[in-house]
Amino acid sequence: MQAPLDTERLLLRPFTAADVDNLYHLHNDPEVMRFLNGGTHTPREVIERDTIPRFLCYGFWAASEKSTGAFLGWFAFHPTDGGDPRDVELGYRLHKAAWGKGYATEGARSLISRGFTEWGVRRVWAQTMAVNTRSRRVMEKAGLAYVRTFHEEFDDPLPGTEHGEVEYALIKADWEQQQTASSHPRTQSRPTVHPSSMRPECAPHPPTWRDGDRVCCQLVWKPRSKGTQRSHDMRQSTMKTSTAAVETSGRGRTTSGYRKLAAEGSFRDECLPLNDLPQA
Ligand SMILES: CC(C)(COP(=O)(O)OP(=O)(O)OC[C@H]1O[C@@H](n2cnc3c(N)ncnc32)[C@H](O)[C@@H]1OP(=O)(O)O)[C@@H](O)C(=O)NCCC(=O)NCCS
Repeated sequence: MQAPLDTERLLLRPFTAADVDNLYHLHNDPEVMRFLNGGTHTPREVIERDTIPRFLCYGFWAASEKSTGAFLGWFAFHPTDGGDPRDVELGYRLHKAAWGKGYATEGARSLISRGFTEWGVRRVWAQTMAVNTRSRRVMEKAGLAYVRTFHEEFDDPLPGTEHGEVEYALIKADWEQQQTASSHPRTQSRPTVHPSSMRPECAPHPPTWRDGDRVCCQLVWKPRSKGTQRSHDMRQSTMKTSTAAVETSGRGRTTSGYRKLAAEGSFRDECLPLNDLPQA
């Protein structure tokens, strides 16, 4: 059973069958649903038959305001079906009256923190319509970085669909760096790279090595996006991989750019339990 969580101003608790009314009202506010279904009506039986059973599963939290006990909305934080359980999607939906008070950011940060420190999460990601600027702002304030814009086909597209959907993500190592930076404000001015737009791989040189019962390797970052250096075999050398990373982060293709990136920590040693390292 999922335990309730406390944040400074919110109580996040598991859903129960008694939340039908809460969800019915929230999911029928046209402004709340603008970027989700365009504000169309969701019948009560759909909430009872489809929504509640899904929300009773692990990974959905009903959010209430501690000071008043009022139901504010919900947060989702769960892996996708059949996906890597350490790769978790973040979502949120709050009543309009609760917007603009920092509640979504507060809840998201709390779940992310628990995820990385207690639940074995390695990466948090979120998606929304590109035009949903409020939601994008919450993602940014929660520490996620822009990864990509993509386009999907819809039978009945919502206004703004032509601008696409966006994905943001945060990996554990970046989150840890953010925590360190916020507890040492002087380091905050240092330029940061967003390797969440890339994926970690063990560099071929040096090879992995043992540290007690763990295996270590030097992590490097390969771009996720198509079209940059993907067609190259970036496993040939650390330098080649780093050049691609530099290019993707917009820092030019030079060796000095690579050194800068490496100095900022996009190359680092990582030690994990045996067989748990990213595959090259
Ligand atoms: C997205 C949502 C959860 C945000 O909740 P919230 O509690 O208002 O979020 P926060 O107060 O933590 O942060 C909102 C941020 O967006 C900013 N913002 C508000 N309106 C904005 C706008 N029109 N454009 C850009 N940013 C905006 C706020 O200023 C704030 O940023 P700041 O602290 O830097 O000023 C809420 O609007 C919502 O439930 N929307 C409907 C459901 C939805 O779209 N969910 C996401 C689908 S993926």
